[in-house]
Order: sequence, then structure tokens, then C-alpha cells
Amino acid sequence: MKTLIWFTSIILLFVMAACSYGPDSPKGFSLPEGDIAKGEKVFMQYKCQSCHALKGYEDNSLIKEFDTLVPLGGTSSMVKTYAQLVTSVINPSHKLAPRNKSIEEKLTNEDGTSKMRVFNDVMTVQELIDLVSFLQPKYEVKPITYTHYGQYRML
Ligand code: HEC
Repeated sequence: MKTLIWFTSIILLFVMAACSYGPDSPKGFSLPEGDIAKGEKVFMQYKCQSCHALKGYEDNSLIKEFDTLVPLGGTSSMVKTYAQLVTSVINPSHKLAPRNKSIEEKLTNEDGTSKMRVFNDVMTVQELIDLVSFLQPKYEVKPITYTHYGQYRML
């Protein structure tokens, strides 16, 4: 019985720790609403299709970097929330989706970082906002609740 109480308390502690918002929590993260049509252009401009497959956006004129293109959209094993979608674009190595072993080997460099190109030096913040607005509906992710200004004052 004692063990059971201990066990339950430990589980409870973990649950409580997971619920509290520490300084590293993504709570409060909010981008302004973007323009989907412009985002589509950004997607093509940066030639994301040279590594990615997105339904309806095949481009055979591009030289492909992988034999099996990394699929975007749908139910990805990694991208579950809007914040994770943004993270996967600006910080690709943050969390690599554990995919099929045969693909995984080619998707990471020797040091374990993602082979995804980092666009942070070239992409503007506005382009990122539009790009993510374009990609988000393609994923089955929890959409962002945009910050309605004034909300912060109550926190
Ligand atoms: C040089 C190849 C390359 C290019 C170019 C590239 N990516 Fe990636 N991308 C990757 C790889 C590799 C991964 C990691 C795949 C994995 O293990 O999940 C990835 C992952 C992602 C993910 C998370 C995948 C998921 O759904 O789980 C998103 C979103 C993404 N890329 C968006 C983009 C966008 C948008 C562009 C264009 C601005 C782009 N990528 C350009 C290689 C690339």
C-alpha cells in the first residue's frame, strides 16, 4: 500500500510539473496572422520541394536532394502544434522526427543535426509568418490562438 501511495505521488508530481509554465514554456508565443497566398510563394521561392513532398506542390524541375522526399503536412510524428511547426522551420535540428530508419540515416548529418537547410539568414520574419500560415492548414495541428492584445494585462 505504501508503495502505491509513493508511486501515485510521484506520478502526480510529474503531472503537476508538466502543467506549470516555466520560463521556457511556449505559453505566450504568438505570431501575427499571415497571408496564405504569400506563404505559398515563399514555399516555392525557397525551393522547399527540393527536399519535401507536399500534396499538390510537386515540382519536377527541381533537383531533388533525397531519393525519398520528406513529406510535409498530414499527421506528422513531430509537428503537433503550431509552435512545433514554427520551430521545425527555424530550428530544424531541435527535435528530429523519428522516421523510418532507412530514411533517417540520410536526413541527419554525421553530428546528428538535421540536413534541413537553415533559412534564418535569408528569410524575413514576414515571410516566415506567411509561410507558417500556408503550411499550418496542411497539418493536423492545434491551431494557434492569436494574442488578443489586452490579454497580457490580466496575466
Ligand atoms: C536540404 C533539404 C531541405 C530543405 C531545402 C528544406 N527542408 Fe525541411 N526538412 C528537411 C529534413 C531533413 C527534415 C527533417 C525530417 C525529419 O526527420 O522529420 C525537415 C523537416 C521539416 C519540417 C518538419 C517535418 C515534419 O512534418 O515532421 C518542416 C515543417 C519543414 N522541414 C519545412 C520546410 C520548409 C518550409 C522549407 C522551405 C523554406 C524546407 N523545410 C526546406 C530538409 C529540408
